[in-house]
Amino acid sequence: MDKLIQEHRKRFGEFEVVDFVDETEIERLRRDIDVDVPMQLHWTWNYGSEVEELRRLYEKGKVNQWNAETDLDWDIPVSKDEFILNPDASILAQVTKLMGKDEATQKAAAFDEINYLLSQLLHGEQAALQLCGQLTNVCDKMDEKWYAASQVIDEARHIEAFSKFMQRKLGTIYPIGPTLKILLEMLLEAETAQKKTLGMQTLFEGMAVGIMDLIRRECLNPLMKTMIHRVEQDEARHAAFGVLMMRRVVRDAEPEQMEEMEDWAFNILETLNANQQLDMLRVFGPKYGIDPEVTVKLITAMPNFAEFNSLAYMHTVAPNLKNLGLLTERTRDQWLKLGMMTPGKNALLEQALTSGESVN
Ligand SMILES: [Fe+2]
Ligand SMILES: [Fe+2]
Repeated sequence: MDKLIQEHRKRFGEFEVVDFVDETEIERLRRDIDVDVPMQLHWTWNYGSEVEELRRLYEKGKVNQWNAETDLDWDIPVSKDEFILNPDASILAQVTKLMGKDEATQKAAAFDEINYLLSQLLHGEQAALQLCGQLTNVCDKMDEKWYAASQVIDEARHIEAFSKFMQRKLGTIYPIGPTLKILLEMLLEAETAQKKTLGMQTLFEGMAVGIMDLIRRECLNPLMKTMIHRVEQDEARHAAFGVLMMRRVVRDAEPEQMEEMEDWAFNILETLNANQQLDMLRVFGPKYGIDPEVTVKLITAMPNFAEFNSLAYMHTVAPNLKNLGLLTERTRDQWLKLGMMTPGKNALLEQALTSGESVN
């Protein structure tokens, strides 16, 4: 299987990482803001409902709308002098502590890290907004177009919430990481509705739910906790849209098409995993005297690396892929080897993988 972004790969012991070190190239990637997207537009003259489950999800989306300006208490302060996340959940807080830095430095480093992570989520939200706009064009059925359209307003609200939170409370929006930009553009440039749905709705929405769930559980600030919780509830609905759409795709797919989709899904997630926060560590390394390469080598060599690394993958995206038949014995060993799955940590998922039964 050819790996994505091969030219930026290198080995850290047993682990292969994707690492961008050339600042000029990163700048060039970010400046590239006009993207050619080949896309087919489909009309439909059937205005009745054809896919009942999608219509139900659309109705659910309407009922669960919320207002980022009025449903969040923006008067709640966010202080740089307090940990916003449990420090155990912050790489920079842990590393600066191990280096013997004082608590103020640990707090500042943890603050920078969550600010960077939220910035990446924000850029991902913009990609989701744009991709759902594309789906209103490329999808065949009116129920699909309606649901995609309802997701467009959800994603606009997520951009509104995250960007206001960073502008009003954190003070900085960091630029997009190079690995994330390349992967998101692969989805936006994909020609078929199937690949767009698999890539954005199943993989990225599934990852978003997993990451946001981790952040929410470790969050110590009530404003941020409520914001993430609200967004996460919308993302769970979006991931469900991905599964409902993909279920119909895989039902009609030939074995070779299934294999191709499984490989593509694995490749995207493997590349995301292979970055191992190197983009973030390169931004803050000099500020805190941290060597990004040494840090990642230490993290990936830790005996419990897979246990915490796999949490975001095993939350939603792995079970959904398994249910769709897009995570099989063929790729399972790679998931385990790369710490994207932990045997025994999700007994239900493991059982399903070995017995071939559905997780649900
Ligand atoms: Fe979103
Ligand atoms: Fe979403």
